Amino acid sequence: MTAPVLSDAGVGDLPEVMATMQDAFDPAFGEAWTQSQCLGILSLPGVWLTLARIDGKPAGFALSRVVIDEAELLLLAVHHDHRRTGIGRALLERVAVAAKSRGALRLFLETRDGNPARALYDAAGFQAVGTRLNYYRGRDGTAHDAHTLERRLDHD
Ligand SMILES: CC(C)(COP(=O)(O)OP(=O)(O)OC[C@H]1O[C@@H](n2cnc3c(N)ncnc32)[C@H](O)[C@@H]1OP(=O)(O)O)[C@@H](O)C(=O)NCCC(=O)NCCS
Repeated sequence: MTAPVLSDAGVGDLPEVMATMQDAFDPAFGEAWTQSQCLGILSLPGVWLTLARIDGKPAGFALSRVVIDEAELLLLAVHHDHRRTGIGRALLERVAVAAKSRGALRLFLETRDGNPARALYDAAGFQAVGTRLNYYRGRDGTAHDAHTLERRLDHD
């Protein structure tokens, strides 16, 4: 199996990111972002995009932000064709290293209640620190709670 190549990415990579976004997120849950939301946040300081490619083709991405000593993983997605091959974990660890090097002591994320991604985060040392009720709204209007997870980076 070909190993993923991870690299920093930018606004010019958004079409590739959006293709993975549309494949990865089920619209039933309202977790995906639009291209204009991504474009807007990428113009802010402290925001960075990481792309994973397999054989030169986009396979996954992470969108992250750091503010002073706190970082947030805003989006993490892997194309269905490449799931369970370690790309999500590799992106997550790269984000943790980058966040720490940018001065973050803690990395936060929100994940929908019931999202199987929780197993990845639990295994990667995240702990639940709160719940946001009705945080996501799916295509049919159904609301879904989110759990806020935290990983201490000063122990890494
Ligand atoms: C969550 C997601 C990014 C994981 O990507 P991935 O590349 O498949 O994850 P990895 O292969 O690195 O998984 C690493 C470990 O995490 C756990 N894991 C990942 N996906 C899992 C799943 N669907 N069910 C149970 N455990 C899972 C497993 O322990 C796995 O190790 P294993 O395959 O050796 O058992 C991917 O499923 C995805 O894009 N989901 C849709 C978008 C999404 O919900 N993103 C997270 C928003 S908070």
